[in-house]
Amino acid sequence: MTIPALELKEVRKTFLKKKQKGRLSRAKREEVVALEKVNLAVQRREIFGVLGPNGSGKSTLIRLVSTLLLPDSGTIEVFGHDVEKEEFVVKRLINRVSVDAAFFKKFSPMENLTYAARLYGMPIREAREKMRQIMLRLGLKESTFTQPMENMSRGMQQKVAVARGFLTSPTLLLLDEPTTGLDPQSKRDVQAFVREIREDHDATVLLTTHDMEEANRLCDRIAIIDEGKIIALDTAGGLKNLVSKRNGQEPTLEDVFIELTGTRMEEKERDE
Ligand SMILES: Nc1ncnc2c1ncn2[C@@H]1O[C@H](COP(=O)(O)OP(=O)(O)O)[C@@H](O)[C@H]1O
Ligand SMILES: [Mg+2]
Repeated sequence: MTIPALELKEVRKTFLKKKQKGRLSRAKREEVVALEKVNLAVQRREIFGVLGPNGSGKSTLIRLVSTLLLPDSGTIEVFGHDVEKEEFVVKRLINRVSVDAAFFKKFSPMENLTYAARLYGMPIREAREKMRQIMLRLGLKESTFTQPMENMSRGMQQKVAVARGFLTSPTLLLLDEPTTGLDPQSKRDVQAFVREIREDHDATVLLTTHDMEEANRLCDRIAIIDEGKIIALDTAGGLKNLVSKRNGQEPTLEDVFIELTGTRMEEKERDE
């Protein structure tokens, strides 16, 4: 039996959230269940998608796997290593890219990536060449490499975040909405690069998205998450088979979501 790249068993995570109740009453704390009874196993070399509306628990899932948060209960293992008991082993096997990645905005992409490479303990000369290649591959122009990050568009900054995630060729790559807010061409650049990383480096990818089209095109299997629960998990084809063809038309993943939840995805979005 081979060990999965990632395995979650009965994972539950709650937050205490301040709630403003009426004008006169004091602020109250309310428990928010971000994830409930989450079970999933991602196989080595798989591109696994977590698809769900805003507030459904996607980022919480990614942050738990990346050891930034601890689960209330349940277990998470990366290549058989427990994220709580073997935090440092796990940290070496993963890398996380998030849409709201932090950078030193006054410094250039090259400077920011060099800083990251130092943190990872990479030889700098080798790292610099790799950075250049990755950024070019992602469609960033050479002239932007040395400009302050604050002068770059959000989409370009996001590409630098993706480049940083790929620097160390992690075994398990965690991508939290890697293409959200990108223009269509940049989306395709990032998607092509994710596929390439899997082919060239045997990487396993866990990515979140609220883009149905992206999940359909990129992911080997997809878990649909709604209000912290996985409500379906299959290949895109398998998920579409849950819905009968209407007028001979192939159903979309959006149709699957509506079938399973009774609502369109954007209507499901929770208040943040
Ligand atoms: N640090 C936090 N404190 C309080 N509530 C949180 C925190 N992080 C997430 N939540 C809540 O947990 C739920 C899931 O959030 P999140 O995982 O960010 O969803 P998604 O990434 O799918 O948009 C939301 O209701 C959100 O408000
Ligand atoms: Mg999120």
